[in-house]
Amino acid sequence: MTSQIDHLLNETRRFAPSAEFAENAVASGELYAEAGADREAFWGRQARELLDWQTPFTQVLDWTNPPFAQWFADGTLNVAYNCLDRHVAAGNGDRVALLWEGEPGDERRITYAELTDEVKRLANVLTGLGIVAGDRVAIYLPMIPEAIAAMLAVARLGAIHSVVFGGFSADSLRSRIDDAGAKLVITADGGYRKGKVSALKPAVDLALADRNGSGVQETVEHVLVVRRGGNDVDWTEGRDIWWHDAVPAASAEHEAEAFPAENPLFILYTSGTTGKPKGILHTSGGYLTQVAATHRNVFDLHPESDVYWCTADVGWITGHSYVAYGPLANGATQVLYEGTPDSPHPGRWWEIIQKYGVTIFYTAPTAIRSFMKIGRQVPAQFDLTSLRVLGSVGEPINPEAWVWYRSVIGADRTPIVDTWWQTETGAIMISALPGVTETKPGSAQVPQPGITIDVVDESGTHVGNGNGGLLVVTEPWPSMLRGIWGDPERFVETYWEKFADRGYYFAGDGARLDEDGDIWLLGRVDDVMNVSGHRLSTAEIESALVANEAVAEAAVVGASDETTGQAVVAFVIIKENYLKQHSPEGLVSSLRGWVGEQIGPIARPRDVYIVGELPKTRSGKIMRRLLRDVAEGREVGDTTTLADTMVMSVISAQVK
Ligand code: WTA
Repeated sequence: MTSQIDHLLNETRRFAPSAEFAENAVASGELYAEAGADREAFWGRQARELLDWQTPFTQVLDWTNPPFAQWFADGTLNVAYNCLDRHVAAGNGDRVALLWEGEPGDERRITYAELTDEVKRLANVLTGLGIVAGDRVAIYLPMIPEAIAAMLAVARLGAIHSVVFGGFSADSLRSRIDDAGAKLVITADGGYRKGKVSALKPAVDLALADRNGSGVQETVEHVLVVRRGGNDVDWTEGRDIWWHDAVPAASAEHEAEAFPAENPLFILYTSGTTGKPKGILHTSGGYLTQVAATHRNVFDLHPESDVYWCTADVGWITGHSYVAYGPLANGATQVLYEGTPDSPHPGRWWEIIQKYGVTIFYTAPTAIRSFMKIGRQVPAQFDLTSLRVLGSVGEPINPEAWVWYRSVIGADRTPIVDTWWQTETGAIMISALPGVTETKPGSAQVPQPGITIDVVDESGTHVGNGNGGLLVVTEPWPSMLRGIWGDPERFVETYWEKFADRGYYFAGDGARLDEDGDIWLLGRVDDVMNVSGHRLSTAEIESALVANEAVAEAAVVGASDETTGQAVVAFVIIKENYLKQHSPEGLVSSLRGWVGEQIGPIARPRDVYIVGELPKTRSGKIMRRLLRDVAEGREVGDTTTLADTMVMSVISAQVK
């Protein structure tokens, strides 16, 4: 089978940085030359300049036992000290770290000095509960400042956090607690979502109660509970502790001990091709170096003047790297928002940008497309002129959404950085630099300085410009995953076996190099279809569909087909006014023709289904596997990880 991914779409719009932006930019094009000349020296300089080390490292990289890398291994540092104390020591204690906005509209401004104080008290509480370096602590909290404080206090002690997204069920929480063997759970009574308190503590109680006869040894000794929603909770005496009783009463004196650079920092569970989530393990020095460097360079961070906002929840890797660690290591001021984008009104995000004067905004394509669906009249009611850099992450951003983002949110002025990376990579790997790169809508473009990426065929051979293939990272990088918790074989097998002879990391994504060598992501390779021997990307066809003025959202799958091997099947959400004015039959046939025109006859969908919703995970990713079940007329598979588990029955009914 060929791994050439036929690319048929052509996007020719270009946006160069303004002279003014380029002149004041943090990162210059010289970084590429420096990293190209000596990659390890480049990362060594980043680590020394961006972080404070207790013991300086003497070796940048030890790659003698691939794929198990060690970065800065003989250096020692404290991650929390780097995110907090040192900013206070440098005279920036009064700078606001967190501009927190609760969904009901309550607010808290927390300075670096205040956050440092809170983390020191909490570290003393955790020590009192017996937490020592290497212990695992599960964090199951809403988007409140305590979530950040909890991560940092665990890190301060050299212990390992496992943040579990607050939207996950008791079952998911339990399997994560068990896999990591967590000793402590930090949670809240609840948090605000869509105008209501969504409870958390009951899920923890359920996760910890249901063990009788399961044979699983309980590892959790205590549950530390933040009061947020104010609702009643069941209480287990001796096990449960209120945060507001313990933390304010603890001493604010706490000396941060330095730990080796390879000391584990966190485990974060992510789904793979099998049912069992993988506990992706990250360590300290290399991780913090790359998140700090990329946060500074990619977002052009000027910490004295910028107000940064990343909308990701701390339950995802983006919330770890670009809410917690990157911004705090860099001494940034950032907005933290508890709720949903449309509560209590559809302009809530834009209102927050106006209120706090946000200058750098980082969100996901799925959010951008849902705002496109509502229409530009909503953001138009708010003053968004403070914005100067916009970022995108999580899935390919189609050129139409990219252009809408730049024009409607960015007033045709702000650079957009489309950042490609993964839970496994820990930090941004591919992205434009906003003062350097001439951007192309829809392309993530270039590897970051010091990162080596290639697009190869099945044999690992470079495909050359103008061709598609598989995305690989050819050399180790500082924030790379160090393993899968408790499963080194799965780590080797999942990421390193495919190109073992070359030592490449296989990311699982398809990509194309354009004539300039810029990288265009084409989605997961399992989402790549083979139609009559042509490999087509689901992302590419979806991009063509949403470029049609009638379409609000689209998901495409390959369904097996007797004639063509696979056939393209599209599920589309039609904008309301089009639905009123056109017949479904007319819309379906015009969309089939449209894709044929946009990409080529080979890409024309066999079936187009008009639906009201698409099945999405809680992080907003479309679950194409379930749509494939519908397209192939099978019983729909496991829907438990969907944000809305009912949506598949609605879609199945609509398709019939
Ligand atoms: C996809 C999120 C295209 C990709 C940080 C990757 C992207 C997976 C982009 C990782 C992007 C992420 N363009 N695709 N800018 N960013 N992806 O682990 O398929 O939640 O492999 O990390 O998201 O998702 P994860």
